[in-house]
Amino acid sequence: MKRILFIHSSLFGDDSVSTRLARSLVERLIKNNPDSEVTRIDLAENSLPHLGAEEFNSWTVPADQRDDTQKVLAARSDKLIEQLLSHDTLVLAVPMYNLGIPSTLKAWIDRVVRAGKTFRYTSQGSVGMIKGMHAYLVFARGGIYRDTPLDSQTGHLISVLGLMGIQQTETIFAEGLNMGEEARKESLAGAMTDINNLSGGKPVEVNSAIV
Ligand SMILES: Cc1cc2nc3c(=O)[nH]c(=O)nc-3n(C[C@H](O)[C@H](O)[C@H](O)COP(=O)(O)O)c2cc1C
Repeated sequence: MKRILFIHSSLFGDDSVSTRLARSLVERLIKNNPDSEVTRIDLAENSLPHLGAEEFNSWTVPADQRDDTQKVLAARSDKLIEQLLSHDTLVLAVPMYNLGIPSTLKAWIDRVVRAGKTFRYTSQGSVGMIKGMHAYLVFARGGIYRDTPLDSQTGHLISVLGLMGIQQTETIFAEGLNMGEEARKESLAGAMTDINNLSGGKPVEVNSAIV
């Protein structure tokens, strides 16, 4: 059984490419592990505010010494970390907006990457505290950036997950989506093939709504 945390962050709801591809990936994981449980978070619908100093500082106050405001602020990050830790598989649907990840996804990252909770500092550097979690990153982009210096998303996400100890990461790319109908079709079909070829699984039917 897998416990899958599926997080999407596109502005475009059901029309989102990253969300739809990631949903197909989740369906494929479920096919391989039919008793899986899925928790879905829509960060566009339920966006988190940017992390501010007051909220950050609330984490440094021992839980039993927090005032009422600090309790509310610290609970935001506490709950998201608790939720992340109660899953063994993370699926992130990642649109490219202005060469970066959506700010809503960054606001989630800023609350789950937390010293003493998901990583700790040592004299040798930082050590991730999350064990045995597998992550899948599904990227959707208007242009083509994979393996170029302009791909600011992939390295950042792999590093930030690695910082927390999530070392097993697989990536799916749908690129060139705004480069003409032919390129878009080819890219979406390629991404679906890559989803079907992910390590150790039975294929799902290609979702014609996507391709
Ligand atoms: C605000 C905004 C900014 C975008 N910036 C970029 C960009 O910098 N590079 C790019 O290749 N595509 C860019 N795009 C195109 C999206 O990456 C593309 O539409 C992709 O499908 C978004 O994923 P989604 O469909 O899951 O939302 C942008 C789209 C929007 C709405």
